[in-house]
Amino acid sequence: MGSDIGVYGLGVMGKNLAFNLADHGFTVAVYNRSKEKTEALLEEKGALSIRGYTDVETFVTHLNPPRRIFMMVQAGRATDDVIQSLLPYLSSGDVLIDGGNAYFHDTERRAKELELRGIHFLGLGISGGETGARFGPSLMPGGSLRAYTSVAPMLEAIAAKYEDKPCVAYLGEGGAGHYVKMVHNGIEYADMQLIAEVYHLLKHSLNASSDSLASIFDDWNQGELSSYLIEITARILKVKDPESGEPLVDRILDRAQQKGTGKWTAQEALELGVPLSVITEAVYARALSAMKEDRLRAADILAPAVLVEGSPEPSFAEEPGPKTDWIETLRKALYAAKIIAYAQGFAQLKTAGEVYGWQLPLSDIASIWRAGCIIRARLLNDIMHVYADPAFQDHLLLTPLFAKRLKETIPHLRRAVRYGVEKGLSLPALAQALSYYDGLRSAYLPANLIQAQRDFFGAHTYERTDRPGSFHTDWETFHP
Ligand code: 6PG
Repeated sequence: MGSDIGVYGLGVMGKNLAFNLADHGFTVAVYNRSKEKTEALLEEKGALSIRGYTDVETFVTHLNPPRRIFMMVQAGRATDDVIQSLLPYLSSGDVLIDGGNAYFHDTERRAKELELRGIHFLGLGISGGETGARFGPSLMPGGSLRAYTSVAPMLEAIAAKYEDKPCVAYLGEGGAGHYVKMVHNGIEYADMQLIAEVYHLLKHSLNASSDSLASIFDDWNQGELSSYLIEITARILKVKDPESGEPLVDRILDRAQQKGTGKWTAQEALELGVPLSVITEAVYARALSAMKEDRLRAADILAPAVLVEGSPEPSFAEEPGPKTDWIETLRKALYAAKIIAYAQGFAQLKTAGEVYGWQLPLSDIASIWRAGCIIRARLLNDIMHVYADPAFQDHLLLTPLFAKRLKETIPHLRRAVRYGVEKGLSLPALAQALSYYDGLRSAYLPANLIQAQRDFFGAHTYERTDRPGSFHTDWETFHP
């Protein structure tokens, strides 16, 4: 008897996925380039039905046909190399699944190349980190429908469940799954940045201790902001550095790193012409944070309003008002900005679905993000219900539900941003969210002047408000 499924690559995600599959009764064959990881996994596996192999050929040929293999390797060149190493042993009808954070254009290319050889390819977005992979991730499959059908029972078995419903749905051909995962990560960046900015505001406007901030986030997690990221924020704030006894978070260098999926989302938004300002700003904010040395120099030269390294915590002369009102303002500000960030992400998905011909199922996407993944949040349940109406697949902010919520919360976002602007606290994502909202609901924007300028210097023509057509003015002939 061969194995039901193979897992190639036993890093954190691959190993945990193999355990998850075996937990659900599948016989799993595993392979890793360096055999130490395979041996370590076999020692750890206990009674689980996992078989280790040390060469690719035996690994592949011991799989039941059609052979199904999860590739859990680094995105990029490594994935292509693994495909090449597997191909000599695969037959027509076999299924390859790429569970990495692949760039969707690569997935499109691989799907085409493999289909020519009769291999069905699935680009599978997996979210939920180590725990998700082990006990239930959110799964975003795209690519060959035959590949999906062949592994659907396995994916459903291992996926996270939201009220018993598995967090997996077929999302479309080619790179659709990895595209959706990419946007998931873009939203993840925005959500994290917005939370960080509100933490920044809370901390410096109230001079609050980490423990009291933790209880604010704990409270918020009970209501409409309820989400995994808020939950872990509260947990992080409670952890003390074993060496100093101080909150560990205060000992962590403020230099954020990134692996590139947020950047791809922003690049893609530019490509499609979709305003994705909150997510893009979150990517920039990480880049600005990474300029630590420059920031330290600039802090000297430009005398920041707050936060010089090593200085005592600043306290603002002006109190933001009664404490509980202010905390509630920040909660609502965060909620407003979060709605806007998610709405931008879904707007990008909608456009991408049209441009790439995927017909992305927006309601299903919201549904499979409700559990298992990093951005799981109560808000996604509402988004799922909104998009469940086939007659409404439009911009989320135009729905009565979200229009009403924003009407209530935007004044608070405005107040929070105003406070930051006055005090010199950098709040780029919150400010972008507000500006996007104000731009979207502006029936008139100053783009008339942009058009006039373009026509002035480059005869690029403009449209008129009073009649159709394309017009040009010889601006130089006009002298006031
Ligand atoms: C997930 C995450 C994961 C991602 C990390 C790190 O959904 O489980 O999105 O796929 O790799 O969040 O991303 P950065 O290093 O870019 O922050």
